[in-house]
Amino acid sequence: MSTDLRQMKKGAFSLSILSASLKIFWLFSSLFFYLYGPFIPTTTKDPVVSTTPDTDGHSPNGHGPPNGHNPNVSLSLLQLHIQEQYVVMENEIIAVTISNPMGFVTGIQYHGIENLLDVTNPEDDRGYWDVVWNTAGAKGTKGMFDRIEATDFKVIVQNDEQIELSFSRTYNSSSGDGVVPLNVDKRFVILRNSSGFYSYAIYEHLKEWPAFNIDNTRIAFKPRKDKFRYMVVADERQRFMPLPDDRKPPRGVALEYPEAVLLVDPIEPEFKGEVDDKYQYGCESKDTRVHGWISNDPPIGIWQITASEEYRSGGPLKQVLTSHVGPASLTVFHSAHYAGAAMVIRFGSNEAWKKVYGPVFIHINSLPEKEDPLGLWQNAKQQMAAEVQSWPYNFPASKDFIKADQRGTVSGRLMIRERYVSNESIPASGAYVGLALPGELGSWQTESKGYQFWSRADENGHFTLENVLSGNYSLNGWVYNFISEYQYDAFITVTPGIAIDVGELVFEPPRDGPTLWEIGIPDRTAAEFYVPDPNPKFINKLFVNHSDKFRQYGLWERYAELYPKEDLVYTVDQSDYKKDWFFAQVNRKIDDNNTYVGTTWKIEFKIDSPDTHGTYKLRLALATAHAAELQVRVNDAQTVTPLFTTGVIGKDNTIARHGIHGLYRFYTVDIPGSELVAGNNTIFLTQTNDQGPFVGIMYDYIRLEGPLTS
Ligand SMILES: *[C@@H]1O[C@H](CO)[C@@H](O)[C@H](O)[C@H]1NC(C)=O
Ligand SMILES: *[C@@H]1O[C@H](CO)[C@@H](O)[C@H](O)[C@H]1NC(C)=O
Ligand SMILES: *[C@@H]1O[C@H](CO)[C@@H](O)[C@H](O)[C@H]1NC(C)=O
Ligand SMILES: *[C@@H]1O[C@H](CO)[C@@H](O)[C@H](O)[C@H]1NC(C)=O
Ligand SMILES: *[C@@H]1O[C@H](CO)[C@@H](O)[C@H](O)[C@H]1NC(C)=O
Ligand SMILES: *[C@@H]1O[C@H](CO)[C@@H](O)[C@H](O)[C@H]1NC(C)=O
Ligand SMILES: *[C@@H]1O[C@H](CO)[C@@H](O)[C@H](O)[C@H]1NC(C)=O
Ligand SMILES: *[C@@H]1O[C@H](CO)[C@@H](O)[C@H](O)[C@H]1NC(C)=O
Repeated sequence: MSTDLRQMKKGAFSLSILSASLKIFWLFSSLFFYLYGPFIPTTTKDPVVSTTPDTDGHSPNGHGPPNGHNPNVSLSLLQLHIQEQYVVMENEIIAVTISNPMGFVTGIQYHGIENLLDVTNPEDDRGYWDVVWNTAGAKGTKGMFDRIEATDFKVIVQNDEQIELSFSRTYNSSSGDGVVPLNVDKRFVILRNSSGFYSYAIYEHLKEWPAFNIDNTRIAFKPRKDKFRYMVVADERQRFMPLPDDRKPPRGVALEYPEAVLLVDPIEPEFKGEVDDKYQYGCESKDTRVHGWISNDPPIGIWQITASEEYRSGGPLKQVLTSHVGPASLTVFHSAHYAGAAMVIRFGSNEAWKKVYGPVFIHINSLPEKEDPLGLWQNAKQQMAAEVQSWPYNFPASKDFIKADQRGTVSGRLMIRERYVSNESIPASGAYVGLALPGELGSWQTESKGYQFWSRADENGHFTLENVLSGNYSLNGWVYNFISEYQYDAFITVTPGIAIDVGELVFEPPRDGPTLWEIGIPDRTAAEFYVPDPNPKFINKLFVNHSDKFRQYGLWERYAELYPKEDLVYTVDQSDYKKDWFFAQVNRKIDDNNTYVGTTWKIEFKIDSPDTHGTYKLRLALATAHAAELQVRVNDAQTVTPLFTTGVIGKDNTIARHGIHGLYRFYTVDIPGSELVAGNNTIFLTQTNDQGPFVGIMYDYIRLEGPLTS
C-alpha cells in the first residue's frame, strides 16, 4: 500500500489519490509510532523544552500551542525569553530556540509540537551556519569545517513587529592558524504573524588579517528524521526518502565514492536496491528558491526560501546541494561543486572583504489533518513568490543589508548580430543578462566575492536588473542557441538610487563562415545528447522515465558497454546527436581490474572540394571538464602533435556528480584548408587522461564553419 503514496512525486494530486493517501497516512503513523514512539514528545529532556522559568516566570516552550488558539493570551505581540543558555523568540505561530551565545538553532516549536528539529542530534547539529576554509595557498577544495560558534549575544531589535538577535564572533589575530580570519555576525529575525523566521549573516575580513580561502559556506537545518520523510526539491523532483540509517553499513554499501550508497537492506524494504546520493538532488542556483521536507502526520512542511540569488556565488547556473537524506535542508551560499578549485574564494593579504549572505526564510506551514500534505508544497511555492515580492526585505537591522532605496537599476536591450542567422540585428530574446564583479569573459561563473544580479531579457531583448547594490560591474549575457557569450565593453558603476539605461547593446557571437555541420544545441549543457539508461542495479526510482535521466548513478560505465572496443564514431548527415553522441566523453573501462583508457571520438564528414587556401573554424563549446585534456587532430589520428589541445582543464567533477553541465568553456580551432581532402574527412577528438572513471568532458555544441565566402 505504501508504494502508492511513495509514487506521488509529480506534484499534481487528485481526489482519488487523496482518499488513498488518508488510509496510508494512518498506516504510516502507526508505523512511525511503532518505530519511534509518539510524534509529540511529552518529556522535557531536551533543553529546548526546558521548563526552567525565564525572567517573566513563564516557560517559553512548555505552554500550549503558540498559534493563537486562545485569543485571550497576549499572543499578538512578539515575545523574547532570554535564559542563561538559550534565547527563545516567539510570535503567534512559532517559537524558535537558539543557544546563547553560540547561535545554534536548537528548537522550532510549532502547533504544539515541541520541536520540529531532530532532538537526537547534538545541539550544534540541528540548525547552524558553517564555513569550510583553508589557509592561503591550499590546493583543492577541502578544508577545515567550522560551525561558526558565536561568543556574543545581543538583542538588536525588540518591538511589537520584530525581534532581531545577533550572535557574533570576532576574530582575534593572536589566535594563530587554526581559526578562520573572519568576523561573523549571525542574525535571526522573527516578525509578527509570520510562519517562520529569517536568518542572515555578515562575514567580514579585515585588511590586516591573514590571507585565506573559503571553500564552502551555508546554513543547514536537520528536521526530525522520524517525521519528515517526503522531500521536495522541485515540482518534478520530490519523493519519499530513505532513512539515514539506511545509508550506513551493513544496510547501505558505498559505491564508487562515499556519497553514493546502494541500499541493500533498508529499514523499509521498498527502498531496497536503490541508490541514494545527495548530488542527485542538486539544483542550479536559479531554481533553488524553495525546497524542503513534508511530514504526513500531522501535515507540516519545513522549507528554506531564498528570495534572491544575489549573494550566491557563481551566477544563476551554479549548481548547489539542496535537501537530502538526513533529513538535511541546506541553503548553500558558496561551494566548489560542479566547478572545482577555480571556485574557491581566495583572499590575498591586504584584502578587505565584507558580504551579507541571506536573509533566508525558514518557513513552516501546515494543513488541516484531512488535507493532502502535498498541498504544503504548493503553499510553500506561494510563500516563496511572496518573499520574492518583498525583496529586498525592509526589516533587516544591519546597516550592511542595503535597502531598496539605496539600490539601483540597470536596463537596456540586447541584440544579436549573426549574419548567418539574419542580415539585421535580432533581439536576444530570453537572454540571460547579469551584472557581476569585473572580470574576463565568463568569469561570473566562478565570481564569489561580490554580488550578482541576473534577469532574462523579454522577447524583444529588453532587460531590467533591479535592486542592484552600489558597485562597479561587468555586464554579461548569453543566449540559447548562440555560442560563446557577451560582455559589455564598458564597466557599469551603480550608485544608490540610480537608474542606468545602457541602451542597445550588440552581441556578435563568434562566426567566420557558413556552417558546414553542427552537433548539438548551444545551450551550455549536454542534455540534448544521448543519455543512457542506468544499470538496473543502480537506480534511483525518481529518475526512471524522468527528464533528468542524467541524474542516475553510474552512467559513466555505460559507455564501455555501448562501445566495448571501438570508440564513438559520428557520421555527419547520417548520425543523430540525440542517439549517437554519448552525453559525456568518459574513459572506457577495459576490463574488470579498474583499468581505464582515454578515448578518441571521430566525426566523419564529407567535403567535395576543400578551399585549400582558406581556414575552417571548429567551434568547440564544452559543458564541463574534469582533469581532461582534449586534443584535436584532422585526418591523421597518429600525428604526435595535435592540431589543437585544451591542455589539462577542469575540476568540475560533473561526471561523478550526475550533472549535465559544470563550467562552460569555449574554444575555436583553426583548421587550415590544406589539411582537408576532397571526399571523406575525419576529426579526431582525443581525451588523453585515462585516470579513472570520472575524468572527461561533456560537449555543449560543436560546429565546423567553412572559410569566409564573399
Ligand atoms: C476570554 O476572555 C473572555 C472575556 O473575558 C472570556 O469570556 C472567555 O472565556 C475567555 N476565553 C478563554 C479561552 O479563556
Ligand atoms: C586575543 O587573544 C590574546 C591571546 O590569547 C588575548 O590576550 C587578547 O585579550 C585577545 N583579544 C581580544 C580582543 O579578545
Ligand atoms: C496574519 O497573516 C495571515 C496570512 O498572511 C493574514 O491573512 C492575516 O490577516 C494576518 N493577521 C494579522 C493580525 O496581521
Ligand atoms: C542576407 O542577405 C543576402 C543578400 O540579400 C542574402 O543572400 C542572404 O540570404 C541573407 N542572409 C540571411 C541569413 O538572411
Ligand atoms: C571598474 O573596474 C575596472 C576593472 O577592475 C576598473 O578598470 C575600473 O576603473 C573600475 N571603475 C570604477 C569606476 O571603479
Ligand atoms: C515510462 O513512461 C512510459 C510512457 O509514459 C510508460 O509506458 C512506461 O511504463 C514508463 N516506465 C516506467 C518504468 O515507469
Ligand atoms: C589489468 O588490466 C591491464 C590492461 O588490460 C593488464 O595489463 C593487467 O595485466 C591487468 N591486471 C590484472 C591484475 O589483471
Ligand atoms: C565516405 O564515408 C561514407 C559514410 O561513412 C561511406 O559510406 C563511404 O564509403 C566513404 N567513402 C570513401 C571513399 O571512403
